[in-house]
Amino acid sequence: MKQLFYLLILLVFFACKDKKEQVETTEKAEKVYDMYTPSEMANLMNEMYAYNQQLKQDIIEGKIPTEFPEKFLNIHNAQLSDFKSRNVTFKSFSNLYIEAEKEIFNANSKVPLETRFNNAVGICISCHTTECTGPIPRIKKLIIK
Ligand code: HEC
Repeated sequence: MKQLFYLLILLVFFACKDKKEQVETTEKAEKVYDMYTPSEMANLMNEMYAYNQQLKQDIIEGKIPTEFPEKFLNIHNAQLSDFKSRNVTFKSFSNLYIEAEKEIFNANSKVPLETRFNNAVGICISCHTTECTGPIPRIKKLIIK
């Protein structure tokens, strides 16, 4: 009788342990599922956004930007989210954007700085109308009025 009692305790103990492990594994699985890993391109875009936000502030305060961030050239080869690929339109928008952004740093330009900045932001928006429209309202906030 006593032995049976111990057996019961053991059974309950193991049953309980099993359950706990199961809960832990489903929790882990959910975590993996919830984890959103941004693509290289998404990271670059967020950097470009933050950089241009600061640039806008500097321009408004009358500071002259001096150095084009070479990192932005990665727009040509940063890895995209799996479901996307580069087509001809995308490539030409990348070139247009880099040229426009470089113009912001062109000290010899006769075009007002605000206009050059807004041109670059305009190309962000143009490319986004063809590629991913979600961030457009956010990007529009970069325009200097
Ligand atoms: C040549 C096309 C192109 C240009 C130019 C472009 N983008 Fe993007 N942008 C994309 C694509 C494509 C994605 C989606 C990236 C992905 O999911 O891999 C994206 C994503 C984003 C995102 C969302 C990132 C995220 O966390 O998912 C933001 C914000 C963004 N871009 C802002 C900008 C800003 C600001 C500029 C200009 C300074 C700009 N983009 C210029 C194509 C472009």
